[in-house]
Formats: sequence, structure tokens, C-alpha cells
Amino acid sequence: MENIPLYKDASQPVEARVEDLLSRMTMEEKIGQMTQSYGGEYASEEEYVAAIRAGKIGSRIGCDTPWAGSAPVKGINVVQSNAHQKVAVEESRLGIPLINGRDIIHGHRTVAPIPLAQAASFDPEEVKASARTAAIECSAQSIHWTFAPMMDICRNPRWGRVIETLGEDPYLAEEMAVAMTQGFQGDDQTKEDCIAACAKHFAGYGYCEGGRDYDASEISRGTLHNVVLRPFKAAVTRGKISTIMTSFQDNGGTPSSSSNFLLREMLREGWGFDGFVVSDWGSIQQVELWGAAQDKKDVVRKCLLSGVNMEMINNLYPKYVAELVAEGEVPQQIVDDLVRGILRIKFRLGLFEKPYVDIEERAKDIRKPEAIAAVRKQAANCMVLAENNGILPLEGDALKGLRIALVGPMVNERRSMGGAWNTGGFTEEFTTIHEAFKEAEKKYGFKLIVHDSELWDAQVRTAAFLADMIICCVGEHCDMTGEMPSISKYRLPLGQDDLIEAVRTTGKPFVVVCTSGRPLPVPGARDFADALLYSWHGGGETARAIVDVIFGEAEPTGRFPITVPEHEGQIPIYYGRKIPGKVVECNKDRFNKERKGQLDKPWIYGSYEYFLPMYPFGYGLSYTEFALSDIKLASAEIPYGGTNKVTAVVENIGNRAGTTVVQCYLADPRCMISRPCKELIGFKKLRLEAGEKREIEFEIGEPAMGFYDENGVRHVEAGEFKIGVGFDSDVELDMSFTMAK
Ligand code: GLC
Repeated sequence: MENIPLYKDASQPVEARVEDLLSRMTMEEKIGQMTQSYGGEYASEEEYVAAIRAGKIGSRIGCDTPWAGSAPVKGINVVQSNAHQKVAVEESRLGIPLINGRDIIHGHRTVAPIPLAQAASFDPEEVKASARTAAIECSAQSIHWTFAPMMDICRNPRWGRVIETLGEDPYLAEEMAVAMTQGFQGDDQTKEDCIAACAKHFAGYGYCEGGRDYDASEISRGTLHNVVLRPFKAAVTRGKISTIMTSFQDNGGTPSSSSNFLLREMLREGWGFDGFVVSDWGSIQQVELWGAAQDKKDVVRKCLLSGVNMEMINNLYPKYVAELVAEGEVPQQIVDDLVRGILRIKFRLGLFEKPYVDIEERAKDIRKPEAIAAVRKQAANCMVLAENNGILPLEGDALKGLRIALVGPMVNERRSMGGAWNTGGFTEEFTTIHEAFKEAEKKYGFKLIVHDSELWDAQVRTAAFLADMIICCVGEHCDMTGEMPSISKYRLPLGQDDLIEAVRTTGKPFVVVCTSGRPLPVPGARDFADALLYSWHGGGETARAIVDVIFGEAEPTGRFPITVPEHEGQIPIYYGRKIPGKVVECNKDRFNKERKGQLDKPWIYGSYEYFLPMYPFGYGLSYTEFALSDIKLASAEIPYGGTNKVTAVVENIGNRAGTTVVQCYLADPRCMISRPCKELIGFKKLRLEAGEKREIEFEIGEPAMGFYDENGVRHVEAGEFKIGVGFDSDVELDMSFTMAK
């Protein structure tokens, strides 16, 4: 190799390249690597490019506002991106490439279902494949790093960003977070279609009080260790994730961006994380706004000492880092270590070897037909069928000439199909429900009726006279979800419950389709409709997937990844609750009787309306019926530290092939601390032919049986454990075994 500096020699080990490059860098160049810019801080592109040339910028964030997900989709100027990279690589003193980051949350140009919907699929392999496609597409447009997966546990779906989460359960979130990370990062990060992933928001953002975005959270150390941190630990230790993003909020007095506990004790010392931490947009400056620092300089000091490698916007690092080091407030070693983390990821990504995108060559990777087909199938797999009296799927001769009316606000809605955090998809490429049914009319032979007015009174009246059945399309606009739009009333948007009542009074058979980000309660559908399908904001192909499901081409195989409250008065409500010390008998049957007015006297413990959600975590119907039998534990007693196994036979007792999700829950009823009444420890999604039986098994052992105490020390305690296997979290834990001392 001709005489090139060691750091430019790809045959050298990454750590050697990091040290060699670091040893050549000035303080200003080190601070430049710690600075992420969106370009808008500069008066002109020339000034921005000059800053790149001077080594003052280490990363570009590909969005134009703090709310990338909600920003008007403008696409990426890949030519400009290559040009900026050329300045960094060929005109700056050390030629360190930029790392381009962007919110590739659920697909890029081929928009996939929102992450909450993807979690509903209970299918990590499909989620991984979806993230892989997103990585291929965004890397073809100069993106090296996505600010995903978001893995905040959320138990308050009023929060707009619940749509970006993987639900309420730590086990499901772990499995999905690892799958997404592996999909984004691929099997060899030096490959040009593999990108860096980012576990966010570290940590506890989903517990913002009242579901009010950006509000403080109060999370006990026990809940932090046993719930909130679990997906992050899995992403770091199992997913080998490259980066972490801190969260805006303050937890118990410490903003996450200045939390030594989170960023040093847990992340680096506890889990061995060796990538880099980026702040959220301005979250370093917000430490001062929380009042948790004397001034901006003190903020920078705290965030450096805590271990935030890179500042997303606001540029406080360039103002104060050198001064703090010169004054001895922050050791040089701390800054060098933070820069090491950034350089390490840039070397691992192969950015020094392949800094540019071959735009023409990679254009073939954008919106491939197979990618579009895959997100259409994924959208169906995420959909949750909540009610069905057998009306669905519509198929066979009965369809010929059947007059189907579409009514409601989502009939012609296009933008919302893509969901709130769609930064790469073009709305005009999404299909509306109206268009999808129109496309399918000839194929299935039905007659579509859609009034040409958006006024529901005319739509319903027409349907009443002309239709044999009605599909009522309700839901929420994507602008009501995502960053900032938390809601106070947890119900359908105003008027839609009345619409459903109007449809009911027509006396026609009707199906309700809820196209939303949050799983909103639809009591009118639960009580009176023939079927209720939650389609989610399922990506660019949502509408076609709804048609596929309605007419039986595809099956809705989703299960709720979050409890669906009856109304906001129940929130927070989730399956893995503690059993109240003063035992309130949460008897579902009694609650159901009360709800239907069948109880002979009011119940002193309070009404069903507080305790009985609309739908439990893990619930969803199939197009066929399944039964479980021969559920057996391998051992009634196991040695300390041993494992057990539970087997069961799943049978498709219906008359058509179908898919179900069998779930295994565990409880540790006697423990040194109080534990949830049950916790998901395993799930199996399987498709069986009519009449087919299959034996499945769940391994029971660490880490399912253990827990953390409030100091983060892990324990597995001898004693009784209870187990339940079923089709949702309402399962009874009717088996038990003992672990010996
Ligand atoms: C936003 C979000 C974060 C996102 C970042 C960049 O404010 O909180 O999730 O990745 O800014 O758009």
C-alpha cells in the first residue's frame, strides 16, 4: 500500500485506525465530529459547505425541522449529499466522511406499517425483513444511519408517539427491537446497503406524565430495570446496535441527556456499549430548560461527563467544549473517548472506503415491486380483527352483484395511510380505500357504492337505500399522532361514534374498519357491527391490504401489542399490573355482566368501566378457530437455576387455514419484591391448515424467571412459578412449578 496514513488503510484493525486518526486531530476537528447539523443553522449552503471543509461538522441530519416525521415530505437530494460528502472527504484536512442520519422509522420510499402495527404482527422475522428493505432503500439515497428503532415502552396511548413504539410489553419490545436492529444493520455493516441503527429514546420517554409529550416522567428504579430498559439492553447486547439517542424528558430530576446513571453506569459499564450516543434534537440545551444546570456551559459539562458523544443541533458543543477542557472542568480523555465512539462507527460502516452513493446504480433499489408487495402483505399481517360474527371474509358467489357501500372519513383519506413518521414516502403513491375497492370491484364481482360527497348524512342515506352491506371507514388523521399531538379524550374523533350509530340504524349488515395510529375504542362496532378490523396506519399499501383481508386474499393475523382502553379514564391500563394489595377482584365475567346490565346489584369494588379494557394485550381473531389442548409442564420441580418446558397442542378446529399467536405467560407470585400479575415470556405465530394439529413448546428459564431489584442487581428466586398458555393476556395461569433452593 503506497504511503497512506494508517487510518486510511482498510486492512488495519478498526481500533488502530481510530487511534491513529484521533492522534492527528485538533481539538476543533474533534468537536466537529461531535456536531450534527441540519444545514439550516447556516445562512447559506456556501457557509454550510465551508464549515464541512473546515472539519466543523461530523454528521448531517436529513430533515429540515425538529419534527422530521411530520415535516412535509421533500425527499432527499442525493446529488447534493454526494457533493457535501466530497467536500468532507476530499477538501477537509483529514478527509473524515460525514455520517448522514435520518428518521427511517417504518420504511423509506416504500412505506411500511407504523412500528406499533409491526409489533402487532408478533412476527420478528417479517419485521426484520421490513427494516432490511428500509435500509436498502435509504442507503441508496445517501443515508448511513437511521434514528430507529424507537423502543420506548408505552402504557399511555394518549401519547402521540405511541404509534412509534413497540407497545406496552418489554418482552415483545425486546424481540422486535432486536429484529429491527438486525434488519437495519444487516450482517456486515461495511456493505453499502447496511446502515447504523439507533436505540431511542434512552430512556423512559414513553412514561411522560399524562401521555403529554415532552413532560417529565417518574419511573422507579424497579420499573426502569424490569420494564423500560429491557429493550435497550437487548438492542445493545443482542442486537449490537451502533448508536443510542437520549430522550428529551427528565426522569425523577435528571434529564436523560445528562444522566450518568443511564449513559455511563448502565449503557457502558453495565452493557459494554462501544458505539456512540447522540442527543435528541436540542435535548442537550433542554437540560438547562429543565433547570437541571446552572447555564449552557454547565449543561455541556454535564452531558460530556455523562457521555453524549454527538449533539443533534443547537451547537453548544462548539461553543463550550474547548473552554471546559482548557479550564480542567472536563478531562481531555473524556472528549477523546467520545470522539473515539463516533470514529469507530464511521470505520465500521466502511464510510472511509465507500463515502459516496452510485446514484444511477442504486436507483434500482428504490420501490422494487417485491418491496411494495411485501409491505402490502405485512400490512395485512399487522391488522387486528377485533370482532367478526362470520361476515368476514366476503367471498364466493354471495359476492356476485353484492352492493357494498363505503362511508366515513377514511374512505378517501390518502396521507394518513403512511402514518406520522413517514419521512421518505410520497403521498401520491399511497392508495385510498375508495381506490382499492374500485380496483377490486371487477375481480370480485361486487358493486361499489360511494357517494360523491364527503358529507356522511348523504353517504349513509344512500347506503341505506342502495346497499346490501356497508363498510364504515373511521379512524384518525396521522397528524393526530406522532411527535407532539397527544390527545386528552381517548376515543374516535368527534362525530365518528355518531356515524357508526347512524349506520347501525340503517339496519344493514356493516363492517367497521378503523384506520388509525392508536388502537382507538370503537364501542359502537363492538356492540353492534358484524365485524371490526383495525388496519392501523399500515403504510402505503394499507388500503389494498384492507381489500385483501376483507375478501379473504389475506388474513388479519395481528394481535394487540398494547391494551385497548374503553376510555381515557382507565389509562394507564395494561395487562402486566401488580395485584393490588387490597385485592380488588378483577373478575372479567362479572364485569362483562355488569356492562350488559346483567348484574343483580352494583358491585362495591367499582365498576367494570375502570378495570375492563376494550381489548386485552395479545388479543385478536383469526378467520378460523383454534383450540389448545394437552398443555403440560415438563417438571413440577426444577433445581435452582434450572429450566422447565411447557408444551401444548394447537389445533385449527375451523374449516379454513389460518394463523394464530399462542402466548406463554409467567408469574412469580412470591418474591423479594412485588412482581406483575403475569408477564409474557414467549409467543409462537403459526399457520395451520383446517384440522391440522401441532405441538409447540416454550422454554422456561433465565432471563424469563429473573428480575432486577431497585439497584439493578439481578435475582432468580427459588419458589413457586405460575404458567399460563393461551391466545391473549387474559389467560389464566393455571399451572405451577417450583424451583428448589
Ligand atoms: C425528534 C425526535 C427524534 C428524532 C429527531 C430527529 O425531535 O424526538 O425521535 O429522531 O428529532 O428528527
